Amino acid sequence: MAENMITVHIIDREGVQHDLEAPTDMNMNIMEVCRSYELPVEGRCGGMAMCATCQCYLESDTELAEQSDGELDMLDEAFFVEDNSRLGCQIPVTAEIDGIVLRLAPEGN
Ligand code: FES
Repeated sequence: MAENMITVHIIDREGVQHDLEAPTDMNMNIMEVCRSYELPVEGRCGGMAMCATCQCYLESDTELAEQSDGELDMLDEAFFVEDNSRLGCQIPVTAEIDGIVLRLAPEGN
C-alpha cells in the first residue's frame, strides 16, 4: 500500500464491512473518510462534536486518544450510546489507527 495510507474498516448499518483506504497526511477524520466513500454518515455539524450523526462504535482494540470534554458532553445527549461509542469526527486519521474497526451507530441523532 502507498505510504501515508492506512486501512479503516467500517461496518455499515446493514452489517456490511467496508475496507477503506485513508490518507494520513490530509488532516482528515473518520467522519470525512466515511463521507468521501459515500457511506451514510451525515456529519451535520461539520466535525465540531455538536451533532452525533457521526457516532460509531469502536470494535477493535485500537488505542485512541482520550475523548475531549466536548465529545463526552455530546455523547451524553446522544441516542444509542454504548460504552464504546465515539464520534467519528473526533478520530483523526493517523498511522496509529491503521486497521481500526468501527461500526456505524443507528441513525436518529
Ligand atoms: S460530525 Fe457532528 S459530531 Fe461529528
